[in-house]
Amino acid sequence: MSLLIKNGEIITTDSRYVADIYCEGETITKIDKNISAPAGTEIIDAAGKYVFPGFIDPHVHIYLPFMGTFSKDTYQTGSKAALVGGTTTLIEMCCPSRADDALASFDLWMSQAEGKSACDFTFHMGVTKFNDTTEAQLREIVARGISSFKIFLAYKGAFGIDDTELYRTLKLAKELGVVVTAHCENETLVSERCKELLAAGKTDPGQHHESRPPIVEAEGVHHLMTFAELTGAATYIVHLSCVEALKEAIAARQRGVRVGIETLIQYLVLDKTYAEKPNFEGAKYVMSPPLRDVRNQSILWNGLRDGLIQTVATDHAPFDFEKQKPMGKDDFTKIPNGIPSLEERVNLLYTYGVKTGKIDLHTFVNVGSTAVAKQFDLFPRKGSIQLGADADLVVFDPNYHGTISAKTQAMNVDYSAFEGWKLEGRASVVTVRGQIAAQNGRFCGATGRGQFLKRKPSHF
Ligand code: URP
Ligand code: ZN
Ligand code: ZN
Repeated sequence: MSLLIKNGEIITTDSRYVADIYCEGETITKIDKNISAPAGTEIIDAAGKYVFPGFIDPHVHIYLPFMGTFSKDTYQTGSKAALVGGTTTLIEMCCPSRADDALASFDLWMSQAEGKSACDFTFHMGVTKFNDTTEAQLREIVARGISSFKIFLAYKGAFGIDDTELYRTLKLAKELGVVVTAHCENETLVSERCKELLAAGKTDPGQHHESRPPIVEAEGVHHLMTFAELTGAATYIVHLSCVEALKEAIAARQRGVRVGIETLIQYLVLDKTYAEKPNFEGAKYVMSPPLRDVRNQSILWNGLRDGLIQTVATDHAPFDFEKQKPMGKDDFTKIPNGIPSLEERVNLLYTYGVKTGKIDLHTFVNVGSTAVAKQFDLFPRKGSIQLGADADLVVFDPNYHGTISAKTQAMNVDYSAFEGWKLEGRASVVTVRGQIAAQNGRFCGATGRGQFLKRKPSHF
């Protein structure tokens, strides 16, 4: 089985040229002008289009038991939505509750994905408690091919860990060369402020932001950075939303702390006024950390452009508007947190980032793919267009014009946070390891073909 992509403009983080890409089996084997392919080769005409390495989403929830319910996608639906939108690899958060066993949870999350995912996948292993048993199990999980942990400084009682557990997790990560990804918000401040707001009768979705203002996130980042500095562990801040938190991370980086920074497409294009929409509409936009004041957007875009922020993720966490978001109709603290966006990240980043001149094409490829692969031990197999790399490719049509709607989306949820938004450009052909998986907004691949990507720790 071979595939030839002809005459596309190949864009990587540091190159831009027109050439053909020939893929034999699952791998890129030739890049040149005027490649002639043997009979039987599938040929894609990419003239007038860009060819990007497959995009990688470093922060996704597919199977997520959370706030008394479950997020709506399964790997059957979520991986297809990813592919339709140009994401060929996703990294899911494996999130056991504190009551659960780490190894059994890892097996459970794997069973949700293996044989069901259409795109390639791996996991950040959630460390939601830390004791001798957990430690032994984490060692086993790393040996099975996981090279990143996930911790929560928020959500105490569900996923959150205390400071002793944080210290020990980071020490273990340092020893194993694993990077620790972290949700940074001060849980005590969040829960005290929630109580105060509810007692004052402030129950609507817009109050979610007031319960966790920027300084609460900045304190979480500062806290993590202190522990990272003392242990020497490599860290990665997930879903950073605001300048206050960014300053803390950069200050720590200047002290020598190893820290990667991820922001989300939501923080780049949405702001807190969406969560203040009347008639409970704002609930569609409740997530943590919350959408911020609009002034943060240019700071985040500039951070991507200048390399202060490494990656753009989705934190895809779909909860429907019919039954799940209304769990918090009279109490914002009960609204399941999360915004679906797995399908739209790449197209939104292109339309609202590249087309508007906020970032260039190379930065787009880097923050959506290559830097993710490098950060999480997937490079150069993923995130690159070079000989020997997996033939995960996105032929991208910069002349496409379209409109986002929940009616046409592949994500299994009843609303879109971007309903009616215009797109200028989209993934027109998406391949995973040499096979076409999506074309013009439709999935056409094989369910269950997605592979678990074994990773080796490198952050010693
Ligand atoms: O609101 C969010 N972010 N929901 C998903 C869980 C998490 O915190 O990542
Ligand atoms: Zn989080
Ligand atoms: Zn998350």
